[in-house]
Amino acid sequence: MNKKIIEATGLTRHFRVLERREGLSGAFKDLFSRNYRTVKAVDGVSFSVDRGEILGLIGPNGAGKSTTIKLLTGVLKPTAGGVTVDGFVPFSDRRRYVANIGVVLGQRSQLWWNLPVIESFKVLKEIYRVPDAVYERNLKLFNDLVDLKRHYHTPVRKLSLGQKSICDIAASFLHDPALIFLDEPTIGLDVSVKKNVRKIIRTLNRELGTTIIITTHDTGDIGNLCPRLILIDKGTIVYDGPTARFNKAFGSFRTLHLDMSDMGEDERGALEGRLAGCFPCREKISVREEGDGWVTLTLNQDEVPLLDVLNHCLKTCRVKDVKIEDISLEEVIIKSYEGALA
Ligand SMILES: Nc1ncnc2c1ncn2[C@@H]1O[C@H](COP(=O)(O)OP(=O)(O)OP(=O)(O)O)[C@@H](O)[C@H]1O
Ligand SMILES: [Mg+2]
Repeated sequence: MNKKIIEATGLTRHFRVLERREGLSGAFKDLFSRNYRTVKAVDGVSFSVDRGEILGLIGPNGAGKSTTIKLLTGVLKPTAGGVTVDGFVPFSDRRRYVANIGVVLGQRSQLWWNLPVIESFKVLKEIYRVPDAVYERNLKLFNDLVDLKRHYHTPVRKLSLGQKSICDIAASFLHDPALIFLDEPTIGLDVSVKKNVRKIIRTLNRELGTTIIITTHDTGDIGNLCPRLILIDKGTIVYDGPTARFNKAFGSFRTLHLDMSDMGEDERGALEGRLAGCFPCREKISVREEGDGWVTLTLNQDEVPLLDVLNHCLKTCRVKDVKIEDISLEEVIIKSYEGALA
């Protein structure tokens, strides 16, 4: 058996979209001459995935993550380049291919809205011709993990978002697929459900050897699940490598959001200069005005102590509110282009 389960070479998907002109006169002009624009959603990406890996795909909104998943699952046909998954060409071999994969799209459910959960599972068992023993074993695995039984007789429409997410993941692996694609499986979930979802993904991978591809905005998913990650931006790969190296490069960055809406624009603008006077590595602190009175500082705690910067701001500025977060994916991308991962 080939060790590589996915091999993508120059995988590309462009969309041709109509640029609509504004207003009534614009709509009228559109009738006679149309302006098209090409969106390069996925633009020549090459990567491979080993059997049994958990791979994380991350990137800001519109980076091309979902389009990549759609190309890998055969929903979309590549504009150029190609991919093979477990010996299949996903788009051309769709019929036979789908029996080998499970797909969970965060926003959409593959369960029947009005059917009780267990009835949906039974329908899937018939569709995929899952042997009784496999079906029972997989349900038991889930029950041991998250006590799925509680929801068996609830119609899907009455499940909470978290319960539905867990049932959807259960449904996607009932037929023992070699690979599962999860597009944003933890979006909108609270901390305890997120933990459960991560536990399920880890266990499926460990116990059944299922290869898992997961897209997410949540760096917590990556840190807790994926030994390797691919960072995408504007349809191209910015980083493909160990999560540990990524964390080493960005783990000590913090984003400090300060509400300075009580201050004048000029006063806020002077903050960068003042920080320069106080902190010798001030080029390490990036300062950005958000336009609504909030100012965002991004810094590396290994180089500049966060608390010192915060104290300085509190002493010298009128700060109404403070939020501290990890570095955003947008900043990660900027810093990656500047060589942070080299
Ligand atoms: N069917 C389509 N027609 C036209 N443009 C599309 C289509 N699908 C996606 N796009 C565009 O392709 C780009 C990538 O979209 P995609 O959904 O893959 O991003 P994403 O990384 O999943 O983003 P998000 O984090 O917001 O889910 C975006 O600019 C999007 O507008
Ligand atoms: Mg998406």
